[in-house]
Amino acid sequence: MPDTANLEIGDDKYSLEIITGTEQEKAIDVSRLRKQSNHVTFDDGYGNTGSCESAITFIDGDKGILRYRGYDIVELAEKSTFLESAYLLLYGVLPSRSDLEAFKQLVGGYCDLPEEVVQVVHAQPKNAHPMAVLSSGLQALGGVYPQFCTNDRKKDLEAFDQSAALIISSVRSIAAALYRHVNGQALPKAHSDRSYCGNFLSMMFAQGDGGEEVPESVQNALDLIFLLHADHEQNCSTSTCRMIASGGANPFASLAGGVSALWGPLHGGANMAVIMMLNEIHESGDDGSRFVESAKQGKSRLMGFGHRVYRNYDPRAKILKSACDQALAALGVSSPILEIARKLEEVALEDSYFIERKLYPNVDFYSGIILQALGFPTDMFTVLFAIGRTPGWLSHWKEIAETGKKIHRPRQIYQGETLRSYLSLENR
Ligand code: CMC
Repeated sequence: MPDTANLEIGDDKYSLEIITGTEQEKAIDVSRLRKQSNHVTFDDGYGNTGSCESAITFIDGDKGILRYRGYDIVELAEKSTFLESAYLLLYGVLPSRSDLEAFKQLVGGYCDLPEEVVQVVHAQPKNAHPMAVLSSGLQALGGVYPQFCTNDRKKDLEAFDQSAALIISSVRSIAAALYRHVNGQALPKAHSDRSYCGNFLSMMFAQGDGGEEVPESVQNALDLIFLLHADHEQNCSTSTCRMIASGGANPFASLAGGVSALWGPLHGGANMAVIMMLNEIHESGDDGSRFVESAKQGKSRLMGFGHRVYRNYDPRAKILKSACDQALAALGVSSPILEIARKLEEVALEDSYFIERKLYPNVDFYSGIILQALGFPTDMFTVLFAIGRTPGWLSHWKEIAETGKKIHRPRQIYQGETLRSYLSLENR
């Protein structure tokens, strides 16, 4: 295979190095092209642009492969837990028994939210979007721990073990504080001896002193959702985190930006949009077929379908489809919208519109149904995505802080007005 690509612009010839990834992905290195030729490359939406070299997560969208640090997502979903996979993403290796125990202790030790952050949550209007509250809560958390967010890379890296555990622990406590605030309740004391999800679920839903633990099967269903969301390479929110980190900002600032980027309905907001879509279909008496027709005509979008990278299937959706059946059985609930979701999937997967465009269910298609069955309100779904994605964002912050050399600064092709003369107000 050639190790250079040749580019001709008029009479000028340029030889561009080809970079090969460990999974044999190829990229043409254009990092010096502008200097050499006065041209930049143009790639609206970055679909063909490798923005960095990364050792965290590998995706082969055509084959439906997702790996964290080389471990297949199917195997991790079966054998690992959210916190173990979080450790793997952050540090690149699976923890030993004692390392995992120490990590759990560190995360558990931070589960009581500082009073200042609780106040920030309580200061928000009750109808504020949960993603806005999470983002501001993260910034406030950094304010409580100035020693972890100095914006001096060396110092922030030295504090990383602590700040990562603090943030992983606190995102769920902020979510619970917000839920309790909206419902006019105080945040109960956390149970640091419980599992990550067991503690979170009792902070959210327990009555009284929260002495009774949620059944393990329910904790496991949520743990699986978090694990499956933990990283997904250079998506919109992760790229945002990396962009912020590239300027030297601390992990709290970087993740607060990531939360904002995740909010939108084409990204993390899709899990919420799926439930709204399924409810709408249910209420209209449609079995899903009419909605599929309107999506084909471009009048609506089948939320939870399609992905920029996966063009075969999303392995996370497959895992969640069967987890959905198990979770609903364990909870002893039935869901009319699950029937509609299945029907939509069946109709869409046989339809040439979806087949030709390679549109398959993505991670958000079934996760919302499980979250709804667990009792989470729909407008908190994206916050739950954010809790799951937190270890991934932190890993990318760390990778930039350890290896990044340049501030991220894309170019543009300016298509606006050329130089004009200023006209004073009287002459306009
Ligand atoms: N329903 C109907 N048609 C669709 C859909 C959909 N969900 N997604 C894409 N298409 C069509 C689109 O109209 C276009 O058709 P045409 O070629 O005739 O113009 C074609 O498929 C290509 O679409 P695109 O918008 O260029 O594809 P993209 O790679 O830019 O978008 C996507 C990817 C995920 C934003 C898009 O598929 C979408 O909007 N899906 C619904 C929202 C969703 O579920 N998002 C969650 C993604 S997974 C979680 C995450 O990682 O963020």
